Amino acid sequence: MKKLTLGLSALALSVSAATAQANCDAGEIVAKLSHVTGGTTHPKVVAANKLAERVNAEMNGTMCIEVYPNSTLFGDSKELEALLLGDVQILAPSLSKFGSYTSKFGVFDLPFIFKDMDAAMRFTNSDAGQDLLLAMEDVGFVGLGYWMSGMKYFSANKPLLKPSDAEGLKFRVQNSDVAKAMIAAMGGSPQPMAFKEVYGALQTGVVDGQENTWSNIYTKKFFEVQDSTTETSHQLLAYLFMTSQEFLDSMPKDAREQFIAIAKDVTNEANLSVKDKEANYRQSILDAGGKINTLDDAGRKAWVDAMKPVWKQFEDKIGADLIEAAANS
Ligand code: SIN
Repeated sequence: MKKLTLGLSALALSVSAATAQANCDAGEIVAKLSHVTGGTTHPKVVAANKLAERVNAEMNGTMCIEVYPNSTLFGDSKELEALLLGDVQILAPSLSKFGSYTSKFGVFDLPFIFKDMDAAMRFTNSDAGQDLLLAMEDVGFVGLGYWMSGMKYFSANKPLLKPSDAEGLKFRVQNSDVAKAMIAAMGGSPQPMAFKEVYGALQTGVVDGQENTWSNIYTKKFFEVQDSTTETSHQLLAYLFMTSQEFLDSMPKDAREQFIAIAKDVTNEANLSVKDKEANYRQSILDAGGKINTLDDAGRKAWVDAMKPVWKQFEDKIGADLIEAAANS
């Protein structure tokens, strides 16, 4: 019977990271699940650990998952390559990190395309959203589902009350052409950077600001090194829970089917609680002394007007039909 223990490397880097590191038994199919987030109730941490817990209990003797959080195995610049090389078997990268493999995922990054998380979930559950899970089949990537997280907000080393406050500031972004164009539309300078480098870059002034969810802003302590966060809700942060075709093909049929069934269940269950989790992290930021700037309707419209032209810029690459399907969700 396998036991769950704390991974030593993860423990060294973050004592608060809940890491379901299993002692896999000889003869089991071992899948390493690598991700970059931390904390104990972060939506991705919870989904990853639940997946490992279920597979390790229900497929004991057949399959075993080891979870490596907090970029302890691979950071987000290397993890997709590692999946293709077979050095890791399960990932959940942000949907913004697939630009080298497909331009279609740019739809998720278009500013203000989703009114809120409910609209984003309607889209990911729609036929168009489900088709995107297999948009990178030719590369060998298989999307097993979307792990949702939350809407994103801008923070900076000065209050961002209107878009022109961002002029001339350097913002860390994920490596996404849409995100870069969005920052440029605000008059800022986009600086693509791996997630694990963001705190240090904000602290030392390499960048002035960043955009993220409440869960990441709290668990990575970004709020401690920023003046405040503005509740823009300008973009979605969600993850592609994924594996490789090669890994799936290497599994016996029964094991593959059982794993996929558990994967679907865990995804559905995890997505039910993400809105509450994000709301709790928002409150935790306030409780810890972080400042949040709220926007009234007119204030929000100013951000929408500044960034909306980005849609047109990417219409050919993403596809007008896909943009329309997302926008009408
Ligand atoms: C993540 O939540 O996986 C990382 C998001 C980011 O890079 O900002």
